[in-house]
Amino acid sequence: MKPSEIILNASDYVSEERLWELLMDVATYGATEKGGVNRQALSPEDTAAKNHVVRWATERGFQSFHDEIGNLFIRREGNDPTLDPVMTGSHLDSQPTGGRFDGAFGVLAGLEALEALNDAKIQTKRSIEVVAWTNEEGSRFSPGAMGSSVFSGIKTLPSVMDLTDPAGVLLSEALKATLSEVLATRCSLGRVKPHSYVEAHIEQGPILEEGEIPIGVVSGIQGIRHIDINVTGEEAHAGTTPRRSRTDALVGGINIVNALHKLTFDDKDILRFTIGRFEVHPGSPNTVPGQVHFTIDLRHPDKKVLSSIGDEMHTVAKNAGGECRVEVLDIGFITPTEFGIKMINIIAKAADHLNYKNVTMPSGAGHDAMHLSNICPTGMIFVPCLGGVSHNEAESASSQDLAIGTRVLVDAITYLANE
Ligand code: HGY
Ligand code: MN
Ligand code: MN
Repeated sequence: MKPSEIILNASDYVSEERLWELLMDVATYGATEKGGVNRQALSPEDTAAKNHVVRWATERGFQSFHDEIGNLFIRREGNDPTLDPVMTGSHLDSQPTGGRFDGAFGVLAGLEALEALNDAKIQTKRSIEVVAWTNEEGSRFSPGAMGSSVFSGIKTLPSVMDLTDPAGVLLSEALKATLSEVLATRCSLGRVKPHSYVEAHIEQGPILEEGEIPIGVVSGIQGIRHIDINVTGEEAHAGTTPRRSRTDALVGGINIVNALHKLTFDDKDILRFTIGRFEVHPGSPNTVPGQVHFTIDLRHPDKKVLSSIGDEMHTVAKNAGGECRVEVLDIGFITPTEFGIKMINIIAKAADHLNYKNVTMPSGAGHDAMHLSNICPTGMIFVPCLGGVSHNEAESASSQDLAIGTRVLVDAITYLANE
């Protein structure tokens, strides 16, 4: 059968209803009252969602594996199991006030692709594996895209084990609980090397919806730099300590924030500067704060800008801190990702085959594909989401758009699995 016939066949079997039902089932794990999800990495909700996927796989005769960092793999055997598999997937963990589609769509679209291949009775040369990467969001344990970075060899497993979440829980403890409860077969980190990787994801921005374009063919992902800032002053009594004798960490922290906001002003509005977490210790109304800790998330498509602005932050923060002691810690630096033209063309051709309007575009959000692109040909497929809203419980996408993205996905991975 010519690859083009195989490509057209598989997508005909994608079911919009079946995909939506699976998405809504998984959205019950960590469901919030406002219609979103709070399913943070290695939480009981995250584990429950992973086990839902494992049960789904077992019912269909697919094997499931999970490795030392908890990445979950659902494998559909190809004719030659010795060949490197094609991988697709995303993440099941969410932000604390996350949406039902960020990550989950990419994992469940992969499962729907396997269903469609079964229904179409298509056997591919290479096996296909659907992956749910551990801790993509990085909201509980920072930095994110952790499971994919360990899988891709960007980070080592020991280097992340001692990380703690805001409640002081060790990653190694949370991981031990997950690994003992997820019903998949344990496997080593090096079990397989992917032939290629395609990730489907909601755009998390407004471009596709505004342009009424159902498919985004992602050209690359902007770079991300994570910096932590600790400001140390001196705890003191709110009533007895005169202003002249205070070393107030909150005042120091606010002066640093203002100085950094000034530093990161960009009249082209391309640079993204976010302080997502700001903690004041001891947090008592009648004690002058002695400690402030806050996180910086800096993004830009140009590595040189991330380097220069991020480096300048060290000096600006120390100068703005006044009498306080200021510590500036570089937590992570993911350079901008460019996907190869081969994968961009395969995804664009799959969309063209199905007569779906598509546009090539960069990703403002980070994804596990950043790390996979270091070890195999990698591409991404975007679908529109309502108002471009994400990392928000109101995040929404239409079942029709999600099914269109899944049709393009199954064609692309079927083509790759027959290479
Ligand atoms: O932060 C990100 O860009 C991703 O959505 N976790
Ligand atoms: Mn995501
Ligand atoms: Mn996200």
